[in-house]
Amino acid sequence: MEQLRTPYFLVDEALLRRNLEILKDVQERAGCKILLAQKAFSMFACYPLISEYLSGTTASGLYEARLGREHFPGEVHVYSPAYREEEFGELLQYADHFVFNSPRQLEKYAARARAAGKQMGLRINPECSTQEGHAIYDPCAPGSRLGTTLENFRPEQLCLLDGLHFHTLCEQNSDDLETTLRAFEEKFGPYLKGLKWLNLGGGHHITRADYDREKLISLVKGLRERYGMEVYLEPGEAVVLNAGFLVTSVLETLHNGMDIAILDTSAACHMPDVLEMPYRPPLKDSGQPGEKACTYRLGGPTCLAGDIIGDYSFDRPLQEGDTLVFEDMALYTMVKTNTFNGMPLPAIVWRNTAGELSVVRQFGYQDFKERLS
Ligand SMILES: Cc1ncc(COP(=O)(O)O)c(C=O)c1O
Repeated sequence: MEQLRTPYFLVDEALLRRNLEILKDVQERAGCKILLAQKAFSMFACYPLISEYLSGTTASGLYEARLGREHFPGEVHVYSPAYREEEFGELLQYADHFVFNSPRQLEKYAARARAAGKQMGLRINPECSTQEGHAIYDPCAPGSRLGTTLENFRPEQLCLLDGLHFHTLCEQNSDDLETTLRAFEEKFGPYLKGLKWLNLGGGHHITRADYDREKLISLVKGLRERYGMEVYLEPGEAVVLNAGFLVTSVLETLHNGMDIAILDTSAACHMPDVLEMPYRPPLKDSGQPGEKACTYRLGGPTCLAGDIIGDYSFDRPLQEGDTLVFEDMALYTMVKTNTFNGMPLPAIVWRNTAGELSVVRQFGYQDFKERLS
C-alpha cells in the first residue's frame, strides 16, 4: 500500500469486535435487543461485521434509516423529533419501528404507519435529569423538546402504541439507568402492561471498563419479568468506544509565550466535539501539560483562533513531520467532520485483525466543492 497521507481515521477491527463481544453477551444474558445508533457511527463498510453481533440499527431520520436498510441486515428503527410529511412515505420503505416524539406526531402518522404494518412507539420524557455539566446532552432539562411528559401523555392513544421509548443518558453507568427507570415506572408504570416493547435509548457506556453490566442485565430482566415485554437498547458510543484513532502530522512548531504545534488536523473540522462539548481528546504517548519534559499547545491549520485541540506534554520536542495519534476518535467524530476553510476530510482506513491496513475511502477537492454550489 502506498504511504498513507495524514490526517486519517483508523478504525481497528480487533477493538471493534471486543466491544461487540461485550454487547452480544449483554444482549444474550439480558434477553434484550441491541441496536447501533448510527448518529454516533455510520461507517457502513463495517455494518456487515457489526450485524454479526447486534440486532439492527436506529436512525434519526430518512437518510440514516435508508443507510441502515441498505447495508445492515437487521431491524431498522427510526425516531425523529418531527417527521416531514413529504418524506414519510419513503421512510415507510426503510424502517420497521417508528418512534414519535409527541401525541400530535403519533396522531398525524399512525394510520399510515399502521397500514404499512409498522411498529409504533412514543418517546417519553421521564423528567429525570441524571447528568451534570453537559446541559446540551440532557433531554430532561427544563424546556426540552424531546419526548412526551406525563402531563402531555394521552392514555387514549395507547391503542395505537406497540411500545414506549426514552433516551436520557449520555456516557453514563447503569446506576443512572436505574434512577431513570424508577422515575419512568413511577409515572408510566400503569400504562406498560400490554405494550410489546420498551426502548431504553442510548447513552449506556456498556463497553467502558468500569460499567456495571450485571446491574444493566438485572434491570432489563426485571422489566421483562414485570411487564412481559421486549427491551431494546440503542447505544452509539459503546459500540465503537476506543476503537478508532485520528492519525495526524505536525506541520510546524513555533513559540509565542509557550511552545505551539500546528497539526494537519483541525479541531473545528475533524473533531468538532472537542470544541462543542468541550473535551480534551486522549493522545497516545503524551501527558498532561507539564507532566513530561516538553509541553505544547496543539492547534489546527484553519484560520479560527480557537481551533485548539488542547495542551499536551511529550518526552522530547516535537518536530515537523512527527506523527501524533488521537485516541477514541470513531464515535461522533467521523460523522461530524466538515470542510470549513477548505480543509480536506480525513481518509478512512481499516485495520483488520491481522494488522493489515486498507483505505476504505479517500476524499478530495470534489467533496469540498460539491456542497457549495
Ligand atoms: C434517541 C437516541 N438514541 C440513541 C442515541 C445514542 O446515544 P449514545 O451514542 O450516547 O449511546 C442518541 C444520542 O443522542 C439518541 O438521541
